[in-house]
Amino acid sequence: MSESVTRSAAWQALESHWRELQPLHLRQLFAADPARGERLALDVEGIYLDYSKNRVTDETLRLLLALAAETGLARRIAAMFRGERINVSENRAVLHVALRAPRGTSIVEGGENVVPAVRAVLERMADFAERVHSGAWTGHTGKRIRNIVNIGIGGSDLGPVMAYEALRHYSARGMEFRFVSNIDGTDFAEATHGLCADETLFIVASKTFTTLETMTNAHSARAWTLAGLGGDEAAVAKHFVAVSTNAAAVAEFGISTENMFGFWDWVGGRYSMTSAIGLSTMLAIGPANFGALLAGFHAMDEHFRSAPFERNLPVLMGLLALWNNNFLGAETVAVLPYEQYLKRFPAYLQQLTMESNGKHVQVDGSPVGCQTGPVYWGEPGTNGQHSFYQLIHQGTRLIPCDFIAFAKPLNPLGEHHDLLLANVFAQGEALAFGKTADEVRAEGTPEALAAHRVFEGNRPSNTLLLEKLTPEMLGKLVALYEHSVFTQGAIWNIDSFDQWGVELGKVLAQRIVPELSGGAAAWAHDSSTNALIRRYRQLKGA
Ligand code: F6P
Repeated sequence: MSESVTRSAAWQALESHWRELQPLHLRQLFAADPARGERLALDVEGIYLDYSKNRVTDETLRLLLALAAETGLARRIAAMFRGERINVSENRAVLHVALRAPRGTSIVEGGENVVPAVRAVLERMADFAERVHSGAWTGHTGKRIRNIVNIGIGGSDLGPVMAYEALRHYSARGMEFRFVSNIDGTDFAEATHGLCADETLFIVASKTFTTLETMTNAHSARAWTLAGLGGDEAAVAKHFVAVSTNAAAVAEFGISTENMFGFWDWVGGRYSMTSAIGLSTMLAIGPANFGALLAGFHAMDEHFRSAPFERNLPVLMGLLALWNNNFLGAETVAVLPYEQYLKRFPAYLQQLTMESNGKHVQVDGSPVGCQTGPVYWGEPGTNGQHSFYQLIHQGTRLIPCDFIAFAKPLNPLGEHHDLLLANVFAQGEALAFGKTADEVRAEGTPEALAAHRVFEGNRPSNTLLLEKLTPEMLGKLVALYEHSVFTQGAIWNIDSFDQWGVELGKVLAQRIVPELSGGAAAWAHDSSTNALIRRYRQLKGA
């Protein structure tokens, strides 16, 4: 059984270091080092990370880097790129980095270079996208495809939705893109509302092609299409394509494997947006922009693989996240993009971070011994400022923030962008430095109200400042978070690539399904679940 990382010398050194650092306020750290704001920053691949507003010193960073060294982070990174089966509980390699490796490079899995197969699928996707765009691919009645509906859930939905929203500026505006994920029929009904079946193409995106939500929605889509096209089964071939690793299940559903785009079991769902799961993204932004997205991912992959840790952006972000979590005791991280196009980025990060690092045991099954993945959440700025920022500024919890902003707006409009950026800079400043009781009183605030107006500050944040949201930049940003997640998981010695925690609920739901209708009620649950089922049956009149 492995020892918890908390027993390592580096961890213990960090614990005693934190005891010394804890009384210091960010105000003091900045006052003691006038260059801190420029020194504690990293400019990599067009991403400027200002991490000076974290409660760290040079010594903290030195100790965090020692922790990375002592826990073998370098060895683990190399193992991932070498195609070793680092997803131990599923006995799989973890090679999303191969999805964006350029033609001509070699990444070996099971004795075979996987890059040529990856590139071959990308070429088929590009060919398909071009045929849809040019009108060479038509629907069953000969009409052009104008609507794309992606059916998928989890990694087969969140990446596509996030990328579509993020890159909407670059998208084919003459086409409509919609996404169905929830098993709630409302999601399907609203996603197809107003669409004509003869102009609509469904992408059924599912790694396993067995996921209950996706298969249920896919069958509804099939029925919707046939109802709209006079019931001719031959229509399915022109209105459905599949993205999956499971060719047999795709064929069984009735989609010809000629219309299937494959990927591999070494691609985790939440790491799959650069695989064929990105077909809707490619249809939206075109093959050239999709290529730029992949190039951005690859640039960050290479940086992560080769940069020394002290200048390695994902490693540094991972270490800072771990510091805030394990030493400062922060239980959540707020991701706050000051970019409307990134409105689904926090939701995307929730699966990436929490499905990856929400684990309680180490790779060998022994207890991890410390907190693992924090809760990620967020909303685009400035909306959050008028809602939950109150708690971040003056609540009793510590909530580190990642602010993300771009210098050049995609939609310049009067003063809007300066006002937006003024706000993001102000938030980081207010969180770090706050407002003291003396400052409040000096403003003439009545004594009875002074305490309410005090901001204690000393609240950590990162600010990521990028030039402009492009496909390439989005790729770099997503890969940055992917590898930051990897860094944290490697240090905790957990399997960041399985997701057994989603299984129990799935099994129990399948057991309950027949009990909700007909006579087959086993009532073998706990009294609460039994009562809920009974009440539901009464209410729906079953
Ligand atoms: O239930 C969790 C999960 O397995 C995710 O990891 C995955 O992204 C999602 O379901 C969808 O799975 P699939 O692509 O196989 O339908």
